[in-house]
Amino acid sequence: MKIIAGNWKMNGTPAALRDMMAALDNVDTENVMIICPPFPMLCTCGATHRAALGAQDVSAHDHGAYTGDVSAAMIADTGAKYVIVGHSERRQYHGETNDVVRAKAAAAIAAGLTPIICVGETMAERDAGQTMTIIESGVRECVPDGGAVIIAYEPRWAIGAGLTPTRDEIAAAHDLIARTLDTMGIGTTPILYGASVKGNNAAEIMSIPHVDGVLVGGASLKPDDFIPIITSVK
Ligand code: PGA
Repeated sequence: MKIIAGNWKMNGTPAALRDMMAALDNVDTENVMIICPPFPMLCTCGATHRAALGAQDVSAHDHGAYTGDVSAAMIADTGAKYVIVGHSERRQYHGETNDVVRAKAAAAIAAGLTPIICVGETMAERDAGQTMTIIESGVRECVPDGGAVIIAYEPRWAIGAGLTPTRDEIAAAHDLIARTLDTMGIGTTPILYGASVKGNNAAEIMSIPHVDGVLVGGASLKPDDFIPIITSVK
């Protein structure tokens, strides 16, 4: 059983979400299916469908004067079960650091959500030979104490680029994350791979040890692209 999560980023419409949720109801799979649409499309409709819903960001604060932000309790109230935190685009365009990501993940857990915590290296960090250091410190610094989380390893240079690391590189990253989580006493935490996952590489990627599923961006927007990823593995 794998976890297949779709990150719609700032794309989609309520009608497209309804179509996707209905299409996923008919998929022959035991895999966990998650769709993370923009905030305004989160709705209690998740409860009536097989796929779960998630948000793409959450405030670290409970309530108050934080214009534009959305609290974890508000997200949970929509029926959503998950929230992506620390996505590369949040780090890049909103300056989110590992400390911010940890606070957001803690807020999510406190509201009963499962945070999908993203870690991964930039191209500059990769070129500087820092990939493993960035991954390990990301896991250690972003995962709060207590509560279930999901980790997503997303090499930031490969997101939306049609590029993926080699099989050996993905294997090494996931092995390091698994060992790090073990030393933190949470060795059963699922680890997803994300960045340029498509129908034609999903099965291969999910056959790598410690790859418990995928976080999919562009190929999660249409059922015709997303469903083959889900059905590519049992
Ligand atoms: P991509 O995005 O699949 O379009 O590369 C992945 C992500 O940003 O989570």
